[in-house]
Amino acid sequence: MIFVTRTEHFSASHRLFNPEWTDEENARVFDKCSNPNGHGHNYVLDVTIAGEIDPSTGYVIDLKILKEIVLTSVIDKLDHRNLNTDVDFLRGTIPTAENLAVAIWNELSPRIPSGKLYRVALRETVNNIVEYLGPK
Ligand code: NI
Repeated sequence: MIFVTRTEHFSASHRLFNPEWTDEENARVFDKCSNPNGHGHNYVLDVTIAGEIDPSTGYVIDLKILKEIVLTSVIDKLDHRNLNTDVDFLRGTIPTAENLAVAIWNELSPRIPSGKLYRVALRETVNNIVEYLGPK
């Protein structure tokens, strides 16, 4: 088993808040992250594929193909967007790094050969990283 990772970057804004809560509850739970006018992050996304080496190419997956899948299915839709309002696959979710990682997985998995998507890791700040290994 070999793991191959493609890293991409995107910049986006968001506001963490639960619309079912009062402003006070949101401020207490989300603190600065619930600033009403939002704030931004420079996100780093790692997408890891696991598999065996194809003897005819020497690849687990062609990284040019993986790059295109990641760019067209998620990065192009997230980069320089407001994650609360601009991204179809985030509608109805609080755009935390956790929910983003799961949503990115769900966008990528149908486009990647079955069973090969191993890990989505999303770094929101230098200090904070979220990793999702799928729904199992
Ligand atoms: Ni934030």
